[in-house]
Amino acid sequence: MYKTLLAELANGIYTITINRADKLNAINKEVMHDLDTAADEVIRNKEIKAAIITGSGAKAFVAGADISEFKGLSVSEGMDIAKFGQAVFFKIENATKPIVAAVNGFALGGGCELAMACHFRVASENAKFGQPEVNLGLIPGYGGTQRLVHLVGKGRALEMLMTGNMIDAATALQYGLVNYVVKDEELLDKTKTILKTIISKAPLAISRCIAAANAAYDPQKNGYDIELKAFGECFGTEDMKEGAAAFLEKRKADFKGR
Ligand code: COA
Repeated sequence: MYKTLLAELANGIYTITINRADKLNAINKEVMHDLDTAADEVIRNKEIKAAIITGSGAKAFVAGADISEFKGLSVSEGMDIAKFGQAVFFKIENATKPIVAAVNGFALGGGCELAMACHFRVASENAKFGQPEVNLGLIPGYGGTQRLVHLVGKGRALEMLMTGNMIDAATALQYGLVNYVVKDEELLDKTKTILKTIISKAPLAISRCIAAANAAYDPQKNGYDIELKAFGECFGTEDMKEGAAAFLEKRKADFKGR
């Protein structure tokens, strides 16, 4: 199904590994198309309850967009690349199931942007984050200027954007860019453990958490209205009835996603 990704589904968790280790998993056109297909698969496939995005090899999550594809592009071609990249990353961000970045090394440029489009991030000790586009006379084009400001605040974001400097995993943790930093070999296990908890909850409630939290950062939307409507809708689900009944009967809820 994919040319540049490895994908494995186990216990409801779909692990997507960007597989171009010789190019530090740089996102070329094929990778972006594969990520688009993978996001569709996560949303469509009922067996998939949650997803992890990570990179192959010990060195990089993703070292950015593939710079070799940028040579000689026109202004409108540059915009087309950003338009498609933004659309794919919006699809990930707005997915109805949790998608978490397990950042296993360099997350630079489009790699940092991909990690930020995920619902949250877990990093290994060797992870490094940065938006080095200014070194190329560029700026981020896959939502990085916006999501970085949201995640770390404007001052820290602008320092990273304008210097192009990398930050290490400990700094990323301090900035709130990642939720945890763990030993390299524990990265996938830690991410899976968190997802195991999430997928034991009511799936429709999880989807609504994502939609409502995303609305907090969407100037077109009133997040409080979205929350209110979603809260009400939960009462129309079988899972809400089951969750409340299970609590009152002092047993574990058996959620069906209905
Ligand atoms: N696009 C295309 N190729 C890339 C790439 C990118 N973003 N990042 C790394 N690569 C390639 C290198 O060209 C090299 O290929 P080669 O072996 O065919 O020459 C290979 O991946 C290994 O990278 P290398 O630079 O040799 O590794 P390093 O350990 O010396 O440096 C980095 C690692 C991440 C510091 C360095 O690769 C880098 O600065 N990459 C670009 C980061 C960037 O600017 N990203 C934003 C793009 S908009």
